[in-house]
Amino acid sequence: QPSTEKHRPQIHFTPEEKWMNDPNGMVYYKGKYHLFYQYFPGGTKWGPMHWGHASSKDLVHWDRLPVALYPDSLGLIFSGSAVVDSLNTSGFGKDGKTPLVAIFTHHDMKGERAKRNDFQNQSIAYSLDEGLTWKKYAGNPVLKNPGIVDFRDPKVSWYAEQKKWIMTLATKDRITFYSSPDLKDWKKESEFGEKLGAHGGVWECPDLFPLMLNGKKYYVLLISINPGAPNGGSGTQYFVGDFDGSKFTPLQEETRWIDYGTDNYAGITWANTGNRKVFIGWMNNWTYANEVPTESWRGATTIARELKLFNDKNGISLSTEPVKELAVLAKATINLPKAVRAGLSKPLNKTSLSGPYKLQLQTNGLASFSVVLSNTAKNKLVVGYDKAGNRFYIDRRAAGNNDFNKEFAKIHYAPRISAGKTISLTLYVDVASVELFADNGSSVMTDIFFPEKPLGLISVQAPAALILKDFSYTPLKSIW
Ligand code: FRU
Repeated sequence: QPSTEKHRPQIHFTPEEKWMNDPNGMVYYKGKYHLFYQYFPGGTKWGPMHWGHASSKDLVHWDRLPVALYPDSLGLIFSGSAVVDSLNTSGFGKDGKTPLVAIFTHHDMKGERAKRNDFQNQSIAYSLDEGLTWKKYAGNPVLKNPGIVDFRDPKVSWYAEQKKWIMTLATKDRITFYSSPDLKDWKKESEFGEKLGAHGGVWECPDLFPLMLNGKKYYVLLISINPGAPNGGSGTQYFVGDFDGSKFTPLQEETRWIDYGTDNYAGITWANTGNRKVFIGWMNNWTYANEVPTESWRGATTIARELKLFNDKNGISLSTEPVKELAVLAKATINLPKAVRAGLSKPLNKTSLSGPYKLQLQTNGLASFSVVLSNTAKNKLVVGYDKAGNRFYIDRRAAGNNDFNKEFAKIHYAPRISAGKTISLTLYVDVASVELFADNGSSVMTDIFFPEKPLGLISVQAPAALILKDFSYTPLKSIW
């Protein structure tokens, strides 16, 4: 079904209509990447949560599927995860069919209204038809709330060394790890983070997964936090460390962020993808998510991204790069002039692009510069590098409609992490978002904006003449 309304993302997943927030239950099974998500089919603002559902063979094109989980007498269906229970530890498998098991938070509105402190509990459901239909477990909830108001967003994975499931749960101002042999009986293992990381808001939507670097295994812990992100509102911090089946021990003290833009929240990774870790986030921010000016739907995901570890001056860091599958969208690449005169260049691409595109650029890192994306309606978005501050930025103050929330029209900054001489930028520009991957994904920013028409004119601005090493754009096909 073509989705072509004003501001409708063309290379990002959106529900055809109504509200979405966090990605949930991401699991790869039998050649399909399943994406569930926080969904309110009754309106375009946050409301009683369901799990919406979509699936993809390539992480790029999505089939929209029927709602997977509906609220019930135990409450709304909040965020969570899903696993392939290959060994049938849960006993839900039948006739040789492997169960997919979803682990989610039941949020009891009545308990919340009565100001109880135990209205969020963890429950499970299973599917024997590859995620299409789900049956909730009769013994729900499987993990009862001990009296912590924020007790949610279970991310479960199999810890093969000790043949048990690990649940990473957001518990107010820290993470609590639980373990289980069968996804039904959960035992507390340890807590992490009360005194580490950012604490400007409540902790939500964690993820814990191993990644290899130079033949050694490390564990990455993602923790979303709202508010308290570096550029305001919602954001996702991470730790690199060790996990022994019970306890997480970080290698670092300082707080790091997976993305410095304002619009990548509650992201987690797919289960069952082997050594490859693929991430998707909700491309929005709780500060204004309920007010963004889209009509029939609200909310989108980021593009799918691959996470890797790398060594830098701070120790071991996490890089984020667009998945290679996105190459299927590429039309012919067009080179732009590499010599830039001082001042603002005239638009370098002659025809205004009306759809999404990828833009790539490399410089020697000796001077500030910016890329100005604009349209004939005088909307403009500026993505740049500030040499004095050694930082990247996105300025969306003039990028279009921004009067729906006073926090929206701002410049956002990201420190340059890489110490490499050459600065390289890859931008994925959709009709209402930009995703900046700098220096092989070591500095990342995701920002949304709402122009009158797509920002299809490209120019470069520099205080002094500049020779770019490489400069090109690649128009992209719509995924719909
Ligand atoms: C994060 C979050 C989760 C919660 C869900 C509710 O954006 O607040 O903590 O489970 O959204 O929709």
